[in-house]
Amino acid sequence: MKKDISIVILSAGAGSRMLSKKAKVLHEISGKPMLYYSIFEALKISDDITVVLFHQANRIKEKIDEYFKNNNIKYITQDHKNYPGTGGAMMNLKFQTKKCLVLNGDMPLVQYSELEKLISTQNEVMTMSIFKLKDASGYGRVKIEDGKVVKIIEQKDCTKEELEIKEANAGVYCFDVEFLAQNLPKLNNKNAQKEYYITDLVTLAIKEEKNIKVVVVDEQNFKGVNNKLDLSFAEVLHQNRIKKQFMLQGVVMRLPDTIYIEDGVKIIGECVIENCVTIKGNTTIQNSHIVSNSIIENSIIKDSTIGPYARIRPQSDITNTHIGNFVEIKKSTLTGTKAGHLSYIGDTNIAQGSNIGAGTITCNYDGLNKHKTTIGQNVFIGSGTQLIAPLKIEDDSIVGAGSTITKDIKSGELVLTRAKTKIVKNYFFKFFGKKK
Ligand code: UD1
Ligand code: MG
Repeated sequence: MKKDISIVILSAGAGSRMLSKKAKVLHEISGKPMLYYSIFEALKISDDITVVLFHQANRIKEKIDEYFKNNNIKYITQDHKNYPGTGGAMMNLKFQTKKCLVLNGDMPLVQYSELEKLISTQNEVMTMSIFKLKDASGYGRVKIEDGKVVKIIEQKDCTKEELEIKEANAGVYCFDVEFLAQNLPKLNNKNAQKEYYITDLVTLAIKEEKNIKVVVVDEQNFKGVNNKLDLSFAEVLHQNRIKKQFMLQGVVMRLPDTIYIEDGVKIIGECVIENCVTIKGNTTIQNSHIVSNSIIENSIIKDSTIGPYARIRPQSDITNTHIGNFVEIKKSTLTGTKAGHLSYIGDTNIAQGSNIGAGTITCNYDGLNKHKTTIGQNVFIGSGTQLIAPLKIEDDSIVGAGSTITKDIKSGELVLTRAKTKIVKNYFFKFFGKKK
């Protein structure tokens, strides 16, 4: 274990304010479920991590295990029926450590360096985090008297005056485990929501004249997401973080507010990302220029220009290539290629020096199965061509514009399937008559 502290992530709530069939902590920020980020950061502090679940427990566990299968994350189920609330969520836990850090699964902006500030307790029974806000709506208010915290009051339990309090509970705590064991059974649910609140532990600590440490934190790192408006605010902050990092590493971004880049994307070397570009999933972009309004997902782009308005779908590997407007590429490898306009290239390999004319379609799907197209070096595919897969076009060959190719092409060949041109002289005038 990295540090002698266990970490609990509360994720059992119904998330009813999200108004969604999807569990709150599975809603995505920058392409990953919210809960992913709390776990990812927590793992930098300790490998003793317990996630408390109840609503949609199996679905959450399955999704989270996709990311953390090797991390031995523990899951426990809250007795939500008898003990609802954030305090109730803590009641079934057993600890091997002396200290325990508790965070909510709905704070996707949390960062390890900020959490570290909360775990350095000395003789306090708990450390809590607050932010000072102009408007603390949505958060529990922290009542402070003579410079000391007296109480956390949930918004629904606040009087009119208490609603004006600017100090909000950020929702991350570090507890002395002994104190938790003694005081969790003392919690009650006499409040507006009839829930057991973890925040009432503050009152219990004060009653016993125990010390509480208060750490002031920045909302940018601890924002709680309770509804879809919070979700979008949190995503903007998260996106800004991702883009700032890349710009500081030398990436040019035009109008960065319009660019969306998911967590996990790699941008290496000198790259330009223009306005309204979307880069998703496990994508690597190296020394490339992505022109405005292009979308790239789970692909590798090296030494290439992409777009404007190009769509690069998963499993594409594009090197030293020019992809122009309205070109869609899927599961294809392109090296030293040009596909400048209006094409669909799917399940295809294209080698060095080949040119794909405007309006070329690889017809990869026969209604039942997908088939591959292989295009060799220095191949010239004329415009408006359909390549019916499976198909192999060898090096140094030409396909005439407007062809429908159903048979493999050998090196050196020109293949054309155009219908012969028919000319009927003066037909227009016979049909419509002469213009007066
Ligand atoms: C909570 C705090 C509030 C604080 C805010 C910070 C309480 C009572 N209130 O309010 O003071 O300002 O976080 O973001 O703690 N959960 C469970 N089991 C439950 C209920 C909730 O595990 O029975 C989990 C949720 O899944 C969520 C977290 O606890 O991840 C917080 O619950 P939520 O309902 O979002 O509490 P807030 O109203 O945000
Ligand atoms: Mg919340």
